[in-house]
Amino acid sequence: MAGRIPEETIEDIRHRADLVDVIGSYGPLKQRGSDYWACCPFHKEKTPSFKVSATRQTYYCFGCKKSGNVFSFLMEQENVDFVGAVRMLAQRVGVRIPEPEAYGGEAGDGNAAWQKKEKLLALHQDVTRWYQQKLGEGVGTGARQYLDSRKLPGDAIQTFGLGYAPNAWDEVIRWGETRNYPLDLLVTAGLVSSRDEGPRQRHYDRFRDRLMFPIWDELGRVVGFSGRILTPDSKAPKYVNTPETPLFHKGRLLYGLHMARQAFKDMGYALVCEGQIDVIACHRAGLINAVAPQGTAFTEEQCRMLKRFTQNITLAFDADEAGAKAVMKSIGIAHGQGLTVKVVVLPEGDDPDSILSRGGNQALMDAMGQAQEAMTYVFEMAAVTHDINSPQGKSAIVRSVLEVVATLTDTVTRATYCQWLSQRLALPEQAIFDGLNQILNAQQRATRRGSRNFRRSSQPRQHGHAAAPPQPQQGGGSPDAPRATPAGGHEPQYEDRNDYGAPDDEPPGAPTPPPFAMPLSLADQAELTLLDLAIHHGFLAHELVDRLPPESVSGTPIGKALNQVIACAAQGEWSEAADQLTGDLQLASNPHIARILVETNFGRFDPEHTEEKRRLEMESVLQKAMEDCLNQLSRDRLEQRTRTVQMALVSETDPEKVRQLQTEFMQLVREKQQMQTPLL
Ligand code: UTP
Ligand code: MN
Repeated sequence: MAGRIPEETIEDIRHRADLVDVIGSYGPLKQRGSDYWACCPFHKEKTPSFKVSATRQTYYCFGCKKSGNVFSFLMEQENVDFVGAVRMLAQRVGVRIPEPEAYGGEAGDGNAAWQKKEKLLALHQDVTRWYQQKLGEGVGTGARQYLDSRKLPGDAIQTFGLGYAPNAWDEVIRWGETRNYPLDLLVTAGLVSSRDEGPRQRHYDRFRDRLMFPIWDELGRVVGFSGRILTPDSKAPKYVNTPETPLFHKGRLLYGLHMARQAFKDMGYALVCEGQIDVIACHRAGLINAVAPQGTAFTEEQCRMLKRFTQNITLAFDADEAGAKAVMKSIGIAHGQGLTVKVVVLPEGDDPDSILSRGGNQALMDAMGQAQEAMTYVFEMAAVTHDINSPQGKSAIVRSVLEVVATLTDTVTRATYCQWLSQRLALPEQAIFDGLNQILNAQQRATRRGSRNFRRSSQPRQHGHAAAPPQPQQGGGSPDAPRATPAGGHEPQYEDRNDYGAPDDEPPGAPTPPPFAMPLSLADQAELTLLDLAIHHGFLAHELVDRLPPESVSGTPIGKALNQVIACAAQGEWSEAADQLTGDLQLASNPHIARILVETNFGRFDPEHTEEKRRLEMESVLQKAMEDCLNQLSRDRLEQRTRTVQMALVSETDPEKVRQLQTEFMQLVREKQQMQTPLL
């Protein structure tokens, strides 16, 4: 029997695993806002009701009510017990479970690699202490003076484990010998470098005469170092860092994460700075949610790490050109992961540490409190470089902002920013939406060119329309291929965010309609109002299930959206309707629909219905609005049918058919008369 797996190992495995990744490896997931959705792996279903929360690392199925974390998912999915799930996951994330002594003999390759990792970790811990010790000794005098000059107090030096690497070529090598660390381990750890000198290899300390910042992994284990130079004007680089090693992957580490992770939840966001010194300054001032990707722009991996704790990040990079570039790049990357981004603009030439040194805690807190929304930041940066009053300037500003809007994954958020931009520049919304579509289409074409001639779907784009004849269900079809649902087109479409309805997606021969037909006809307007009512008021959506059959709804985007919402209600999933529609890139990018998703035209009715009298009043107003729309649609249908019958009468020669058409014509006229007389 296997011994107990140490609690910390289980924790380690849990921290390293991402539930979204794990579940994603069993089937397609679709992101909506901060959550991911899939067809439930535990029960048969055609529409996704299995929700995965990236932040909480939990899942829940609205259908079969199964819920849990990454371990329970694997237990259920792979039919293993808890220990089995832990082992499977350990393998996946590369953590070795220490075996009890009895199993020690079977050391395969994996075992050897693990042992090396353990040794490396021990070495890092050990050498950190040694550097710290050196800082306190005579050789560390210069470094201590430097710390004084930067006003770094003793407790911060202690907390952040700062040390000093002596000014010599072989001090670490000799220290390693006394501690029985083989030279090749020091080389692997990046503490020692080597150079070919003729037939011999010369080894020497990588870090010499530097202030040493230990770099921790998420679990607080030292996995590398960053060493700052002490003398100001030297040709040597300001920081020397550990190279990529089995422990140190720069793009996957965030400085300070193990200290900050608890604070993300309390403070509601992660503060992302440029470097170690910044993070230390922030922590000293009480901003213990500060982390840093160490001088590089944010990577996707770092975003994913943060995303497990919070949806919100604030970027506080230096106000120089490099900083501004890193901000732009980081915004795009964070948006791609569905994070909400704010930006702190620091005064030119300042960074968090200089603000703290000069003005104290409050000054830094104040500076960090000035965070702007990413889009405001981008807008203002663009407005500085371009003339906001000239048409060309406006166009350039629109383009810069839309480039960033295009990185957003959530279509409603995109639409909201388009509306905002149109207001700020006093431009028609339509122009902004068109501009965004241009960028998205160009991106899509670029993606296509880059991808191996991959046709995502042979079906026309107007799929999922309930009025279309149902297509045969393909059981295990590709998740990317849209499938028609007989139930009324409520199947959400699995599309990546670049698949934005480019014209070349149209079937050959079909004329490409203008993206948004404006102005709306009366019937379109009625459908739009019904969409508004159905999205925001469940009781009306449920009523529409019976009163508005799918085939009587138009095939326009508005009609399709309306059908989707009604279909949701029909399946008892009305509360998911807005989310689903938001996830439908084509429909949600339509400005009319986008606006409805963002706001209702029926004011903010008290959703709690606290007061019975008010509830009844409200409901009757809403009910009346719905009846008006349904009447409008019926009238429209009657008109159309009447026109069709009239046309047929003109060309029909068969006397029997003519008689039938005349009867229908009379019937239609009677219906129209009835409609026009109010029932009361
Ligand atoms: P900065 O140059 O902004 O340094 O680089 P800093 O954090 O403000 O430090 P001080 O105040 O000048 O001492 C930010 C981060 O970029 C990385 C380091 O991780 C640093 O913390 N960096 C910078 C390097 O890796 N190498 C370099 O040569 C410079
Ligand atoms: Mn800096």
